[in-house]
Amino acid sequence: MTDILAEVSDQVLTLTLNRPAKKNALTPGMYFELNRQLSEAAGDFGIRAVVITGAGSAFTGGNDISDFMNTPPTGSDSPVMQFLATIHNFPKPLIAAVHGNAVGIGTTMLMHCDLVFAAPDSKFAMPFVSLGLVPEAGSSFIFPKLVGHAKASEIFLTGRNFGAQEALEMKLINSIEALPLDKAIAVAKEIAEQPPEAVINTKALLKSADHQAISAVMQVEGELFSMALQSDEAATAFMRFLEKKQKG
Ligand code: COA
Repeated sequence: MTDILAEVSDQVLTLTLNRPAKKNALTPGMYFELNRQLSEAAGDFGIRAVVITGAGSAFTGGNDISDFMNTPPTGSDSPVMQFLATIHNFPKPLIAAVHGNAVGIGTTMLMHCDLVFAAPDSKFAMPFVSLGLVPEAGSSFIFPKLVGHAKASEIFLTGRNFGAQEALEMKLINSIEALPLDKAIAVAKEIAEQPPEAVINTKALLKSADHQAISAVMQVEGELFSMALQSDEAATAFMRFLEKKQKG
């Protein structure tokens, strides 16, 4: 599987979404491999932190829209739902390095990362409504907590994108970095040198207050999302994307 690259250095695992010709749009195979890598990393004493990044000009264009149309994920055992559960429950520090587009799950997965570094050209978007869908990954709970109800409503209900500076003001990211991957790896290595059990327990404490509530929201979102995927509104939006692509 080459659509996900995995490299370990100084006890830091770096996972790279590697489908640059498609803006790293995520397929079931990619979620499956991410799940496999993260599950192994969770149990591997030699891995102390994980960095996730994208190859080429984008972090990720989100879930592959053709897959949404042809093989819509349904149920909690689908690779995408399993991936969301995996990052929600991942016990070790998860650090994202973002550049270019981070669409859909490309933005919502950041809400499960412990630290996020983003390039000045980063463009975040959660256009679920525009696609006839609903927020996922617990974002309908986590995002308003982060930015307040008014801002969250504006972003979700219009589907508009936002840049690195706005993401920083929202506290979605830690900092804007010219070289976010270098920064992410440097901080991951710094964390990797800390006593590992203290790191794991501290992360668990930081996450504990909302963990169950987020699980419950993710389940409801998942059910609504599965239904929405099969709606006329979604079919129309997906066709619009694919037709635009054909026209160039
Ligand atoms: N699913 C399927 N293919 C995707 C994709 C996705 N989510 N995101 C990008 N791609 C493909 C494009 O179709 C295009 O393929 P092609 O070269 O075979 O035509 C290629 O990746 C490059 O994308 P392109 O749209 O030409 O690049 P861009 O720089 O103009 O725009 C995006 C980048 C990410 C803004 C744009 O591709 C986009 O809006 N993608 C869809 C995002 C989305 O709605 N995701 C689902 C969220 S739930």
